[in-house]
Amino acid sequence: MSPVSNEKRYIPALSFRWLTPLYDPLLKWIMREETFKRRLIRLANIQPNMSVLDLGCGTGTLTLMLKRAHPNANVTGMDGDPDVLKIARDKSRGTDIQWDRGFASSLPYPDSTFDRVVTSLVIHHLVTDDKRRAFKEIFRVLKPRGELYVLDFGAPHSTLTRFMITYMRRLEETADNFDGLIPRFVAEAGFGGVKEAENFVTVFGPLSIIQTVKGV
Ligand SMILES: C[S@@+](CC[C@H](N)C(=O)[O-])C[C@H]1O[C@@H](n2cnc3c(N)ncnc32)[C@H](O)[C@@H]1O
Repeated sequence: MSPVSNEKRYIPALSFRWLTPLYDPLLKWIMREETFKRRLIRLANIQPNMSVLDLGCGTGTLTLMLKRAHPNANVTGMDGDPDVLKIARDKSRGTDIQWDRGFASSLPYPDSTFDRVVTSLVIHHLVTDDKRRAFKEIFRVLKPRGELYVLDFGAPHSTLTRFMITYMRRLEETADNFDGLIPRFVAEAGFGGVKEAENFVTVFGPLSIIQTVKGV
């Protein structure tokens, strides 16, 4: 089944569906995802009974890490692609994570549902209009004072990373990220106190964590 949505373009986890089975090994062994996903979880300062959405959860690695770190939080993983959601469900047997199918630019949740929204390596899959719509939707579903953490490709901070992105910026919808536009799109959606909390260099280019809050 292919995703059907209002999104202007839908890019699966590794660009092509037939590559999806390689996603977990690639992220684990080549991109060393645990380093930056752990950091994201620490920054998010999740408290017991908070409701947390992992938007574009893919195969659920971050969602599971979140649940293991915060067993008393109510954790939801959402993605548009039923194939990755099946992998996520299989990986998470025995946990009470909620898995939902949904799309970033029309989130299937009422206003003010979540205390935290995290999203990892998803925004660079969205065309510019959909990035903007997604941040507006995240603003809507967050509770007042709720926080958003966006982990994704970001502006380069060194000659090495500037060189790395010359090729990467042609892939998927990464150019907005490398041009440093994500914090601007987040602020345009209504968020306050938008800041780059961390940055990392990976073999695929520079990553950053953007941190922001609804209502400051
Ligand atoms: C590179 S994967 C990241 C998965 C996971 N968050 C991680 O950090 O490993 C990008 C994910 O975003 C999902 N995705 C892409 N466009 C989406 C959209 N418009 N709405 C919801 N999910 C989307 C894809 O299906 C894919 O699972």
